[in-house]
Amino acid sequence: MTTQTATLDRLNAYDVEAIRKEFPIFEQKIYGKPLTFLDSGASAQKPRQVLDVMQTYYTTEYANIHRGVYYLSQVGTQKYEDARVKVQKFINAKSPNEIIFVRGATEAINLVAASWGRKFLGAGDEVVLSRMEHHSNIVPWQMLRDEKDIVLTVAPIDDKANFLFEEYEKLLTENVKLVAITHISNALGTITPIKKIIEAAHKVGAKVLVDGCQAVPHMRVDMQDLGADFYVFSSHKLYGPTGVGVLYAKEDLLNAMPPYQGGGDMIRSVTFEKTVYNDLPHKFEAGTPHIVGGIGLGAAIDYVENIGFDQISAHEDHLLAYTLDKIQAVKGLRLISRADTMAGIVSFTMDLAHPHDIGTILDQDGIAIRTGHHCAQPVMDFFDVSSTARLSLALYNTELDIDRLVEGLHKVNRIFS
Ligand code: ALA
Repeated sequence: MTTQTATLDRLNAYDVEAIRKEFPIFEQKIYGKPLTFLDSGASAQKPRQVLDVMQTYYTTEYANIHRGVYYLSQVGTQKYEDARVKVQKFINAKSPNEIIFVRGATEAINLVAASWGRKFLGAGDEVVLSRMEHHSNIVPWQMLRDEKDIVLTVAPIDDKANFLFEEYEKLLTENVKLVAITHISNALGTITPIKKIIEAAHKVGAKVLVDGCQAVPHMRVDMQDLGADFYVFSSHKLYGPTGVGVLYAKEDLLNAMPPYQGGGDMIRSVTFEKTVYNDLPHKFEAGTPHIVGGIGLGAAIDYVENIGFDQISAHEDHLLAYTLDKIQAVKGLRLISRADTMAGIVSFTMDLAHPHDIGTILDQDGIAIRTGHHCAQPVMDFFDVSSTARLSLALYNTELDIDRLVEGLHKVNRIFS
């Protein structure tokens, strides 16, 4: 079977209308119009399977975990730890000890900066970022720079938003101790050559942190194949609940890192003289965790695994090609996202209308996109814009969604011309 035939077979088997029925949000109308949701890069909608698991847990199974000898606490503990194993398998980590539940990707990066960074980085050590980073993967390193006198360098992109691998390689000197780079740009959709980026960093002895927020909902990621030292993502972009995310880190790194926060659950024993910390992964999970969040994330992983990433990627890639084809017919539209390898995130501006006006006019027709700087101001500066309009695709989007968007963009032109 050729690759093209295999892709077509997958697309034919993909029943997007049945999938949409699993998302209750699409049952309602917005201003009397069907909801055209094209902002999943900011946060994805939730399938009934995830909502039901969370509702059931709060309704009939709820208790604190890791603390009770009684039935409900034991059930909750089992479900939460089962979710951790689901995450481990989902990203093919070696051990559940490598999966730390956090509030989201932002907290995961702050944890690495505050724990690993404070311990292992010193004056003159370099951290390489990319021009496309989300503020969450810039600001924690700037805070560390102010504290430890580390040096931040920035790997460039070209004017099509491609990551410039050879320019990046030139930054890799023996001073580089960490590379912190996105897998897929949230503002542009560029897929970075992350495996090559990691291999090159490792050659100079640097560790690599990958922001995988936009990648995990779109493609299969495999920690043992990639070899990332740290990989972070949020549940809410993966059809799971808000308030929970994942820090993956190699076990030897986590063992060498001091705890991030002190409190309950992260200790083995406490006296006023001395505290002995708990084993992994609990050493990094102080306080009562977001129990239902972890369980909900586990349900979201079951959900996407059940559909299958071959199908999800093929569907979203097809829709991206469809979008790029249709959107360029809109007069005065400047495509910012033009990288050679892209996922379903498309940033653009229009000659006649400000992005906020585009978003507001589309909203009146029930079409949700994101407008603004997308928490990535340095890349906006690179393209000499203060903001863009951005659509982002998910497994429930259809060609009709794109047709409605394009019609809405024609309407924007009519209003402003
Ligand atoms: N980081 C999220 C986005 O890209 C909120 O929209």
